[in-house]
This record gives sequence, structure tokens and C-alpha cells, in this order.
Amino acid sequence: MRLTVPKIIKKKRKKEKITMITSYDAAFAKLVDKSEIDMILVGDSLGMVIQGKENTLSVTLDEMIYHTKIVVNNTTYPLIVADMPFMSYQISPEDALKNAGRIIKETGAQAIKLEGGFNMIDTIKKITSSSIPVMGHLGLLPQSINQLGRYKLQGKRSSKAQKMIDAAIALEEAGVFSIALEAIPSELAQKITDAVSIPTIGIGAGNSTDGQVLVIYDMLGMDSDFNPSFLKKYLNLDELIVNALKNYKTDVENSSFPAEEHSFHKEYKKDLNIYSS
Ligand code: KIV
Repeated sequence: MRLTVPKIIKKKRKKEKITMITSYDAAFAKLVDKSEIDMILVGDSLGMVIQGKENTLSVTLDEMIYHTKIVVNNTTYPLIVADMPFMSYQISPEDALKNAGRIIKETGAQAIKLEGGFNMIDTIKKITSSSIPVMGHLGLLPQSINQLGRYKLQGKRSSKAQKMIDAAIALEEAGVFSIALEAIPSELAQKITDAVSIPTIGIGAGNSTDGQVLVIYDMLGMDSDFNPSFLKKYLNLDELIVNALKNYKTDVENSSFPAEEHSFHKEYKKDLNIYSS
């Protein structure tokens, strides 16, 4: 049975940590499903980790719908949150509701996420009043990269920190069911977490948030050159994969693959199902 928004909210009340990870395709979604992680974020980070772009800005609504549908169809347990891509919710609350509605109707995701604070209050009210759960996103807002100049820690100055706490309270009042907090000092994340009754989900926000989210490719170590200090790599997949590929190349080149056990012979039954062992 899939986790629901009320169950995620309840976890905060019960002081149970909430787990979240990104996914974008069937193979990883199936593995996350088996791990019983609470929530999957189909993040617009797919622009960077799947499409190899420099930032998330070019990701389209149709691309988000395509990937989210795949993730929903290949999982049974986690709550699925889909990111609203850049310019799919900034034009007007009406436009945002139309696009959020497309995501929910066409993919089966249970919630959407959008970036922003006070500037997004009317939009969040519009979307939640149509019974679409919304996750907020404060701190480092990757869709604002052209204003920010670079991805950097947010909320260091006390005036900015207080504004972020006030924005979190305003987001809760507008109806969000949780808030992602990205790249802020842990002391500020603690204050925001204490100030709201909905769960906070941190990435680069220390250990006092109600839950954590990481980009799956980052925590599996798919890119040996990406090593931000907030990231814990649970595997070094890049090394494992390159070694496997090199072994395959060598095996083919020296004719040791395919071996006898990987080969078919003409006396096999005609209706042999080649994909079952
Ligand atoms: O797009 C994404 O993966 C995100 C997380 C980094 C929170 O927004």
C-alpha cells in the first residue's frame, strides 16, 4: 500500500524521521520501491543527472510528466512527489493549477513540489484548494540560478534567516504538506522545523529536519567529480560500472564472452523463452 500525505505528516508528530530520494526511471524506481524509502521525488534535477545539462531550467512539463509516469507505474510503496519545472507555475496561479492538474491526472503522482516563499503563496493556495498536495521548497532554489550566480549556502545573514522562517510559516498557512529545505545552516533548519507543524525535508540542511532527501545518482556515487560536503556517497557506482564495462570490452576482444553457457544451439526447442533461466 502506497504511503499517503496524512501518513507522512503523522511521522513528524510521532517523531519518526522521513526518508526521500529522487528517481526518474523504471530501473531505479523498482529498487527504491524495494528499499521502502517513504517518498520519491521526481526532481527537475533530471535536467542535470539524466539530460546532462548545466542546470534545471530547460526541463519541460512534458518531460516531468514522462518521467513521473514511469516512476509511478514501477512503484507500489512510496509517496510520489513531482517537481513543477521552471515556468510551469510562475506565470499565474491559474496557469500553475492547470499544470499541477496535468501532472496529477496524467501521472498518478500524489503531490507536486514548487520552489519559492512569499511570492508563491497565492499559487500554493490556488493549487491546494483544488485538493492537490504541495511540497514547498526554501533555501537554495536551483530554478533561481541566473539570479544567484552559483549554487551557494542560503540564510546566513540573520535578516535573511528570519525571512525564511516567516516564509515557512506562511507556506504552512497556505496549505503545503511539507517543505524541502536546501543548503541552509543547520541552526536555521532547526528553527524552521520547530516553527512549523508540517515535516521539513532537508538536503544540505543538517540533521535536525524531520527528514532527508538526496539525488539518487549523487548518493550512489555516479559522478566521481561531484563531491559537495553535504553528500554522503553510499556507493562508488561510477568506478564499479566503468570496471564492469572494461571487463566486458576485454572479454569480447579476447573472445571469452559469450561462453558456451551464453550461447544457443539449433537443437533447442523452438518456443524457448530466452529471458527466463
Ligand atoms: O530536483 C531535485 O532533485 C530537488 C532536490 C534537490 C530537493 O529539488
